[in-house]
Amino acid sequence: MSQSTPVMQKISCLDLKGQHDQIKEEVFAAFEKVYEKTAFSGGPFVEEFENHFASYIGSKYAVGVNNGTTALHLAMLALGIGVGDEVIMPADTFIATAWGPSHAGATPVFVDCTADTWQIDVSKIEEKITPRTKAIIGVHLYGQPFDIEGVQAICKKHNLYLIEDTAQAQGARYKGTTVGVFGEMACYSFYPGKNLGACGEAGGITTNNESYKKHLHSLRNHGCEVRYYHDEIGYNYRMGGLEGASLTIKLKYLEGWNNRRREIARMYQSQITNPKVKLQHQPEWADSIYHLFVITTDDRDHLMKYLNERNIFPALHYPVPCHLQKAYAHLGYKQGDCPNAEYLAAHCLSLPMYAELTDEQVQAVISAINEY
Ligand SMILES: Cc1ncc(COP(=O)(O)O)c(C=O)c1O
Repeated sequence: MSQSTPVMQKISCLDLKGQHDQIKEEVFAAFEKVYEKTAFSGGPFVEEFENHFASYIGSKYAVGVNNGTTALHLAMLALGIGVGDEVIMPADTFIATAWGPSHAGATPVFVDCTADTWQIDVSKIEEKITPRTKAIIGVHLYGQPFDIEGVQAICKKHNLYLIEDTAQAQGARYKGTTVGVFGEMACYSFYPGKNLGACGEAGGITTNNESYKKHLHSLRNHGCEVRYYHDEIGYNYRMGGLEGASLTIKLKYLEGWNNRRREIARMYQSQITNPKVKLQHQPEWADSIYHLFVITTDDRDHLMKYLNERNIFPALHYPVPCHLQKAYAHLGYKQGDCPNAEYLAAHCLSLPMYAELTDEQVQAVISAINEY
């Protein structure tokens, strides 16, 4: 029999199986309780998660909804943002950040990111403010906090609301404080691939403001406080009981998972030495949870092909910046309007990043990149 070199196991950008195998019994036991109570839509399992999540974030209230996009939509409605209003946000984010204002009838206004942190460039915000501007959505992109105080100062000066898009950053810290408490509201995605992901689709909003919380409760539930009495046009944006129950269990593990991601990131940061590769700059006040570990390189497609040949499968977050998406062609942006975001889109590559990656897998990724 001929001896062949063992083929390295495939390393994907994300693999949810390991995490779910670890907690399967616990989650199934919780699902049984939901089933026994037939508490499938909203209800006690969602409330339990909301209470735990609010105390984890350090906010007074958490409101569970059915995904992160509807969380952003409701945040806009609760702030009274709608037709004729403008909402400023970074051009380099997942498109759902822009869906929030768009679904409310408002217009997203895209600002470039900096060349090194890939977060909203605070120095470019003020030139985009008009009498119609109502809010800024800051995005903790890839799990790394944006320059919160910089954006807060502009909000204060121009009387604008700040909303945090915390979809990718559950547990990240800004100057030691967990993000999600700096704006009027913070919006989360609990999509399965997120650091804290439900077994299903889910999202949430945190706030310290009781009247926002009450309004969000009504909006997510057909615009009613009392069943079948509808005070305003509402939505069916409730979180499911199975999703809530799975999130309560996963929340217990989140710090551990986030810390393992930090450990993997430190290995990438200290051991990737190939000068062809650039990493995201992390200011000292930003404690990322590395939802994604993104690098840039001159010939991204070539590096992708090279890694694929070595059984390593990175991903792209995101190949087209929001201002150049077809969906927003009517807004009239053109190539060159946000050069740093455009550069990032054309050169980014997300390396494998999830808590269950073994040190050997991380080393395999590092060696492959250094040998490139
Ligand atoms: C930055 C950002 N905002 C919003 C969302 C929307 O969340 P969801 O997919 O749960 O609707 C996501 C998730 O994909 C995201 O990454």
